[in-house]
Amino acid sequence: MDYTSLFSKTVKRSKASAIRELLKVIAQPEIISFAGGLPSPDLFPAQEIAEMMYDIIKNNPKTSLQYGATEGQAALKKEIIPLLKQTENITVTPEQILIVSASQQALDLTARAFVNEADAIITASPTYLGALQAFQAAGADIIGAESDGNGILPQDVENKLKALQAQGRPCKFIYLVPDFQNPTGTTIPEDRRIQLLALAQKYHTFILEDSPYRQIRFEGTAPRTFYALDEGRGNVLTMFTFSKILAPGFRLGFIIGPAEVIRKFVILKQAMDLCSSSVLQLAAAKYLQAGKLPAHIQDLIVCYREKRDLMLKTLEEVMPEGTSWTRPDGGLFLWLTLPKHMDATALLPKAVEHKVAYVAGVDFYPQCNVKNDIRLNFSYSTPAQIVDGLKRLAEVIKENK
Ligand SMILES: Cc1ncc(COP(=O)(O)O)c(C=O)c1O
Repeated sequence: MDYTSLFSKTVKRSKASAIRELLKVIAQPEIISFAGGLPSPDLFPAQEIAEMMYDIIKNNPKTSLQYGATEGQAALKKEIIPLLKQTENITVTPEQILIVSASQQALDLTARAFVNEADAIITASPTYLGALQAFQAAGADIIGAESDGNGILPQDVENKLKALQAQGRPCKFIYLVPDFQNPTGTTIPEDRRIQLLALAQKYHTFILEDSPYRQIRFEGTAPRTFYALDEGRGNVLTMFTFSKILAPGFRLGFIIGPAEVIRKFVILKQAMDLCSSSVLQLAAAKYLQAGKLPAHIQDLIVCYREKRDLMLKTLEEVMPEGTSWTRPDGGLFLWLTLPKHMDATALLPKAVEHKVAYVAGVDFYPQCNVKNDIRLNFSYSTPAQIVDGLKRLAEVIKENK
């Protein structure tokens, strides 16, 4: 049986994630991997979660093991609402929240809800690869706007919006990872956020704010979220996830926005998975209710800050001339730029021979037009691995310069 002629356009448009493919190759234990966006498994609050899961299933089997409302468990929304108020000064009602199977589902939902084939959206270039995958699957025309050390450039966003307007095409949304961006680690300062928000308002579009790393800030003051800056005008949808602050295995997050948009998402989500896991939502609710999250986030910050510092110090010591890198104030990644003529994808097999792995930057660019960057994750490896892995990587770069 040959299925080729039967596949949908969506399948034909979809590309396998370079990262997910790579993760299979580098699963061997002797390889030091800076590739995945993985939190440190040593910090999962496993014992506490195990006890909570046991309690929930024992005391509340009829709800926890049952299907739940597509909108999400009321018990979890009840915890999320005050949390958003306290930490972000964001006010939302339950109707403005949809619990999702982590933020990747929210990306897919947004694409399905807003993108018809060839519709334009704007993203930073580079940006999160998994978002590009979701948008590409929907058939979006992804227009990459230039970035600098402070994230996407409002001037270039306006150029792109103007060009679309001149063609009579709307920009369906502007997708941004404003805090410690995946892949570069850069953060958009507040004045730039205000400019971008004004552009969204002027050109009748919205900002899709994706901020999984926001809470993991090592130093400095956080700019306000786009959602808070918008002050309820409805030009922002924001997604949060428990993946980086609790456990990605929960596959749990939420998206907030105007109730009329959330209602459409609910209908689309019904067709995807009916509801997110009831038992995991109740476990997350219990974890929040017990007030355990702030201390856990503090542990993550302390651990990842040390690793970031070690990575920066080691890069300084071992990397050859002609390379440069970002210095993120938080998150999980930094971005290493090789001399212009080098191709990070071509270098990767050689790095793997030296038992070190990374993700080449090219796939993070919507136009796949820049080849000399490398994304380095600093949360997953141990301190000793960070030093050894970077030494190996520096050798490979020197040998192939
Ligand atoms: C910017 C960004 N958005 C979304 C995701 C997806 O995360 P999850 O679906 O686990 O919430 C990631 C994962 O690395 C990410 O970096």
